[in-house]
Amino acid sequence: MKVLESEIVKAYIRMADDGWQQGWHERNGGNLTYRMKNEEVEELKENFTPGKWQDIGTTVPGLAGEYFITTGSGKFFRNVSIKPEDSIAIIEIDEKGENYRICWGLVNGGRPTSELPSHLMNHEVKKRITNGKHRVIYHAHPVNTIALTFVLPLNDETFTRELWEMATECPVVFPDGIGVVPWMVPGGRDIAVETSKLMEKYDVAIWAHHGMFCSGEDFDLTFGLMHTVEKSAEILVKVLSMTDKKRQTIQPDDFRNLARDFKVTLPERFLFEK
Ligand code: 13P
Ligand code: ZN
Repeated sequence: MKVLESEIVKAYIRMADDGWQQGWHERNGGNLTYRMKNEEVEELKENFTPGKWQDIGTTVPGLAGEYFITTGSGKFFRNVSIKPEDSIAIIEIDEKGENYRICWGLVNGGRPTSELPSHLMNHEVKKRITNGKHRVIYHAHPVNTIALTFVLPLNDETFTRELWEMATECPVVFPDGIGVVPWMVPGGRDIAVETSKLMEKYDVAIWAHHGMFCSGEDFDLTFGLMHTVEKSAEILVKVLSMTDKKRQTIQPDDFRNLARDFKVTLPERFLFEK
């Protein structure tokens, strides 16, 4: 089967386009990776022309032998649906988890996203703790979430609680909460290490003054998670634009009641009295 005819590649392209249409991907902002299933690799393998092995920039032994679909570094999300062969690639990880090689795509040259260390270290954590269920890591630059990193204290408790309060669905969609990485230089191993530590606890990590990472089982759930967090952030930006004091809000006991009825566990450390 041709790569662009496969359902999984079509779904990947649609998600990239959905992100573009949300306004989360100015220029080359953001990146998307998907850990392929064996049967998806088998179906497409006849098209692969593996290039040279190249250093990942970190070590991910838990991903040895895995294949990923990835956006290219410097490639525009706007163009993923228009010229996918130029914008995205399928890469293979070597047996030590130290190198990758491009098997398909990036036909006009280039390399996978500069955030490959963060993506792969997040994948490695999520593959382990979800027993292989999580397959998608998504990084975007959503405006309202980024705006909040200039005014809220940069800690997990504040971001989680404030975003939970802004929409009743939030504690159900991300019951484990949200992690925050202070500003760091992007694109390397250091920020990857910090982000992947947060992925041990959360499915969402916010990079201060930069953007957001989400992890999920499939494209719908991962996109939906980013969308829910960003919508909640938009409501908070609107509220904070009107006042610095909410007249009424969802209270700790309301969250406890919600948790009981919706059968989710909400860590008490987010349900502090203000
Ligand atoms: P890439 O173009 O290398 O994927 O980088 C975009 C980005 O968002 C960096 O954080
Ligand atoms: Zn970015």
